[in-house]
Amino acid sequence: MEHIWHKLQDGASGENRESISGSGEASEDVLVLAIETSCDETAASVVKNGREVLSNVIFTQIALHTVYGGVVPEIASRKHIEKINQVIEEALEQAGVTLGEITAIAVTYGPGLVGALLVGVSVAKAISFAAGIPLVGVHHINGHISANYLEYRELEPPFVCLVASGGHSHLVVARDYGEYEIIGRTRDDAAGEAFDKVARAIGLGYPGGPKIDKISREGNPDAISFPRAKVAENEYDFSFSGLKSAVLNYLNSCRMKGEPVCQADVAASFQKAVIDVLVEHSLHAVEAFGCGKFAIAGGVASNSSLREAFERECVGRRILFFSPSPSLCTDNAAMIGAAGYYEYRRGVRHGYDLNAVPNLRL
Ligand code: KG4
Ligand code: ZN
Repeated sequence: MEHIWHKLQDGASGENRESISGSGEASEDVLVLAIETSCDETAASVVKNGREVLSNVIFTQIALHTVYGGVVPEIASRKHIEKINQVIEEALEQAGVTLGEITAIAVTYGPGLVGALLVGVSVAKAISFAAGIPLVGVHHINGHISANYLEYRELEPPFVCLVASGGHSHLVVARDYGEYEIIGRTRDDAAGEAFDKVARAIGLGYPGGPKIDKISREGNPDAISFPRAKVAENEYDFSFSGLKSAVLNYLNSCRMKGEPVCQADVAASFQKAVIDVLVEHSLHAVEAFGCGKFAIAGGVASNSSLREAFERECVGRRILFFSPSPSLCTDNAAMIGAAGYYEYRRGVRHGYDLNAVPNLRL
């Protein structure tokens, strides 16, 4: 704690700030210090001009929550408090910058776990106040979508984006930086949530997505016929709870008949059912909205079979496909730095009354 306040004071000194703003080229660069604590990753990053990652530090709490089979909110908040200063210091150090060189501080303020979000928001407000740096609150999903700007410096809106994470499954049209039109959403479970629940049911444990991804490589995706749900009122909406129930029913019937369950086949067949729906709805949207550019975002976007399926289908249809590296798809602070940059450029500034909003809408 003492350490970070030293840096804060160094960085905030008038002398330091003047020398930077007076140093020609450097004054034009926008350096965003970004903080992300919405769930179980304590993360900080420095991003230059919304496109270049100077550092991207993540302390993952996965091992802590694995024994409980999922994220325990109280434990997540406590761990964020323990780790946040260290993670921020590391992000500044790896980027080779002081707080005095930072133009703005961006922080996820929703959606997410309220106690977890509050840690990031409180620290961001404290640094912003002490160092006199503007504060920019960022929507977590805006961050996920903006991860694409870090991987593809040439990418500009408009494009269609599939956001598939633990809490969201959205099809959006990115009209401009930070301006989204949601054209499809899930009616029940998010795609990642379905992965996690099915993984638990077949005994793979937490975190479910990466485990299903891995074991599916050894299974037959056509072994079991699971449903591909369509939502009558909106062709772009998703529904995954029926699929989850179908997997549970299949497991029950095997148990009752005394038949063995092949984990790999169930995982691969379930995964294929999710991917088929995500691909079909997304491609339909890209064709309907006509911009020829399609991006993916969120934890589920790191799924290897999903990425392969989209690559194959987009090439065939001459659609430009954008897929951030898996480490930029799952929660990280660099994506918040990219989104924060564009929010900053749009003039977004938050006051010290900024609060965590667990169910913040896009
Ligand atoms: O975006 P994210 O890191 O956090 C949220 O904002 O929710 O997404 C986490 C979700 C979890 O449900 C996790 O199981 C899923 O993304 N996930 C995956 C994979 N990696 C993470 N799902 C499928 N395949 C993966 N490789
Ligand atoms: Zn996320």
